[in-house]
Amino acid sequence: MLARLACPLVRGRPAVARVARPPFAAPLLVGRRRCATQAQPVDEDDGQSDASKPSGQQPIADLGSTGKVGSPSPWTSDAWDAAHVTDDAGGDAALQQPDALLSEASMVIPTSEAEAQGLPSNSSILSAYESQLQRRSSRHLGYPYNLSHSQTGDDLGRFMRYSINNLGDPYVPSNYGVHSREFEVAVVDFFAKLWKAPADDYWGYVTTCGTEGNLHAMLLAREALPDGIIYTSAETHYSIFKAASYYKMDCEVVRTLPTGEIDYTALRSALDANRGRPAILNVNIGTTVKGAVDDLDRILRILSVTGYTREQYHVHCDGALFAMMMPFIEYAPKLSFERPIDSIAVSGHKMLGCPMPCGVALTRKSHVKNVEMRVDYLNSVDTTIMGSRNGHTALHMWHSLRTKGLEGIKADVAACLSTAAYLCDEMTKAGITCRLNDLSSTVVLERPAHEPFVLRWQLACEEDIAHVVVMPNVTPAKVDIFVAELVASIAEHGRTQSRRSNSPLALLSSDAWGSAGAPFDNRQGV
Ligand SMILES: Cc1ncc(COP(=O)(O)O)c(C=O)c1O
Repeated sequence: MLARLACPLVRGRPAVARVARPPFAAPLLVGRRRCATQAQPVDEDDGQSDASKPSGQQPIADLGSTGKVGSPSPWTSDAWDAAHVTDDAGGDAALQQPDALLSEASMVIPTSEAEAQGLPSNSSILSAYESQLQRRSSRHLGYPYNLSHSQTGDDLGRFMRYSINNLGDPYVPSNYGVHSREFEVAVVDFFAKLWKAPADDYWGYVTTCGTEGNLHAMLLAREALPDGIIYTSAETHYSIFKAASYYKMDCEVVRTLPTGEIDYTALRSALDANRGRPAILNVNIGTTVKGAVDDLDRILRILSVTGYTREQYHVHCDGALFAMMMPFIEYAPKLSFERPIDSIAVSGHKMLGCPMPCGVALTRKSHVKNVEMRVDYLNSVDTTIMGSRNGHTALHMWHSLRTKGLEGIKADVAACLSTAAYLCDEMTKAGITCRLNDLSSTVVLERPAHEPFVLRWQLACEEDIAHVVVMPNVTPAKVDIFVAELVASIAEHGRTQSRRSNSPLALLSSDAWGSAGAPFDNRQGV
């Protein structure tokens, strides 16, 4: 299905009609079944001899087999233990509703003596808030945030006294000295090594979140290929559509396979149809709802067979969660700048587990030169989406990476994949409809019919499905509590029925996602 976002006349381009983003509907096709720990071995030889690899850069260890830097992570534990956090008298309601101390009336910031009369003390409000955070952290399964960072505060709490601001470019210090650029550059260097960016040709920065990384990437793409069309799947995170809308870029929304991967045949047709214009590919390295990984190599092959030369395409990989996981999974497809790609974005509060939203954007140097502007006031150059930039996040990312090391992150990822498989198996045994994509820790399930249950566990839902994203703080013990509560909820409140014949739940229940027989291998040819 082809759709374009609104494009009033921009930089000489004609306007095209606004077409709403299509629903996540896809025809029935054969997909892959759950196989969390057995990724398909694909293209192990990347075709580059050691001699041809960029020089001057210390290559990162082959994480699949020999990653020895760091220690096993102590973070794969239930920081907020669901079994021991009290539910309060109100059960479901108490978990979600603020107590009286956090009501609008208590929270008001008084502007007169009269308004201040009778207000609860700040300390009582803060205690109530802390208790609410603990309760909610103990039953949080729906969003891909690693909540296990309880020890970080011990080391980094003292830095909250400082106004750490990395305004300007990470590599061009501004006159403002209270920054954490050294940490930021170290973090970017780490990701450059992880994703094998050439030593003399990468640029990156610590962003506010994965969304900012995507906004930055699409801006660079538009500057590189002003007449380019964005191709991205219907199950893409909204930030890419937001970028298309902000920057007035044409966008072809390509339908998906039932698993959530881009439909490669439809992509090829779209590329063929628009052969006269450059292509900007957004490749989902893990979709938001189903955790589906688009096959980067297959997309590159499609570009090649449809006749797009390297100058005519630009590839961004949106790896908000998975770009931090793929390099640590044995036999996972390679996510690497050794491929002809242009940028990768990842979130820092997801797999890495920073307590505040953050991320990393990495690209090739030449692209950022296109947007660079000198700003005298900063005594630096403006290359980032934001002006003032949170210097604490760079510190937290650095701390997390240094403390966990490659071994620790690898252990976290392995634990997530295995606990996700356990969750899927336990729900299947209990008769609950669920699926788990290859390479993924996102378990998709039928939407629980009882809405308070959804809120209690903070499940993210889309139409008639929900998902649980298994992060390092989700242990098998927590899974047991969740499944037991879900079974009890179903017994009491019943189950969600598919809302239409090809709704997400209908696809989830059918063999279209993958049958018990031979899994569909979508990597054979294009
Ligand atoms: C695939 C994908 N891209 C981008 C984002 C945005 O990341 P953030 O929440 O860090 O802005 C998400 C968030 O879940 C995502 O799943």
